[in-house]
Amino acid sequence: MTDHPVTNASPSRRDFLKQSSVVALAGTALSGLVLPSHVHAAGSDVLKVGLIGCGGRGTGAITNALAADPNLKLAALGDTFGDQVDQTLKIVASGPQKDKVNAEEVHKFTGFDNYKGVIDTCDVVCLATPPHFRPAHLAYAVEKGKHVFCEKPVAVDGPGVRSVLESCRIAKEKGLSIVSGLCWRYHYSIKETLQQVHDGAIGEIRAMQCSYLTQGLWKKARREGWSDMEYQVRNWLYFTWLSGDHNTEQHIHSLDKGAWAMHDEPPVSCSGVGGRQTRTGAEYGHIYDHFDVVYEYKNGVKLFSRCRQQDGCEPDVSDHLFGSKGTAHIISHRVKIEGEKNWTYKGPPCDMYQTEHDELFKSIREGKPINNGDYMSRSTLMAIMGRMSAYTGKTVTWDQALNSPERLGPTTYEWGPVPTPPVAMPGLA
Ligand SMILES: NC(=O)c1ccc[n+]([C@@H]2O[C@H](COP(=O)([O-])OP(=O)(O)OC[C@H]3O[C@@H](n4cnc5c(N)ncnc54)[C@H](O)[C@@H]3O)[C@@H](O)[C@H]2O)c1
Repeated sequence: MTDHPVTNASPSRRDFLKQSSVVALAGTALSGLVLPSHVHAAGSDVLKVGLIGCGGRGTGAITNALAADPNLKLAALGDTFGDQVDQTLKIVASGPQKDKVNAEEVHKFTGFDNYKGVIDTCDVVCLATPPHFRPAHLAYAVEKGKHVFCEKPVAVDGPGVRSVLESCRIAKEKGLSIVSGLCWRYHYSIKETLQQVHDGAIGEIRAMQCSYLTQGLWKKARREGWSDMEYQVRNWLYFTWLSGDHNTEQHIHSLDKGAWAMHDEPPVSCSGVGGRQTRTGAEYGHIYDHFDVVYEYKNGVKLFSRCRQQDGCEPDVSDHLFGSKGTAHIISHRVKIEGEKNWTYKGPPCDMYQTEHDELFKSIREGKPINNGDYMSRSTLMAIMGRMSAYTGKTVTWDQALNSPERLGPTTYEWGPVPTPPVAMPGLA
């Protein structure tokens, strides 16, 4: 395979990369150290980038990844389904990063083992499948010494979260970057707002409220010839073993902002309610369409959290932090602080989906790994414990959720029958 010409780098960016490569090599010679194969401080290295999970987000993520550094090429795409791979390849090969894509040279992998092919082929991988598969994909990527962009959530159950925590610990030892798709952490305005909060702008946090009230999402009608497994994987949103339910899959973005405000200290426990009122048909699998969960922290602070996916209802996607000296509102990209100190973000706009990849590739080039493992695992567990509480009708502690032996989903992946579990009935489990 040939390397693709650099077409979108400004001369100054190229010079900078050249210069840093000289510095990096000089440093290596002086110290007598050999850089491990996954360290790519030399900007002239062409990094091979790949994607596992060729859906909507994955296609966006690989496009952002390819835009993040001049010396990249798309090396591999993986998905359970060939049609998904072909679709992503077509979009990326004709999109803004087409110069980094030679469609005929991109390796394509399908079936459930596709991830091994992609990871073995690439230096950096984007993980964007349904979250059930993330722990295994991340573990393999770290084992093989690859840098990772890891979409949220990172698991759907306690065993999955424990696996991700362990992978991220090993990644730290190996000096690998793991950047999380909890994209708000990379948004300038939210970062600055949270910094203001952490610097005391609203005093001590007393309570938080986060809402993700939105419409229903897409679904795919069952086609002739699809096994249960194919139907479920293609409609993964509606099966808890694949998505974690929507309070995990979608609402994690809101929970993560509460967690961030609390410096990622885990809540002690939570108590939740939920159910399905409008999405009652079999085409919606067995997940709920609304949740309301209260999280409690060691110091008595509570996070009041709600999410809903129902058509025709009023939307509200917002986060509010109530402090002893004021309130921080994080609403629809506009943020403001009211109280003793009034403040509104006035900095530059930001495409958080691009920023997260810019920082990932910068960290790889500079040999300064980013590891978002702790917060992406903790916020995922917060969401999972909320679901556990709503499904059972019982208070769930952090330790119970983290140490839970409940592993969701089949233990082997085959194109055959997979029964749909009944809708969870609180009080019966
Ligand atoms: N950060 C964000 O704002 C954001 C936005 C949307 C989605 N997401 C996350 O990205 C992930 C993907 O969501 P999406 O909207 O792209 O869904 P999608 O259905 O559009 O894409 C998922 C793809 O993964 C494939 N897939 C399923 N199982 C697989 C496996 N074992 N190996 C390889 N491929 C597999 C599917 O065939 C599909 O092509 C989810 O975790 C979702 O929560 C994040």
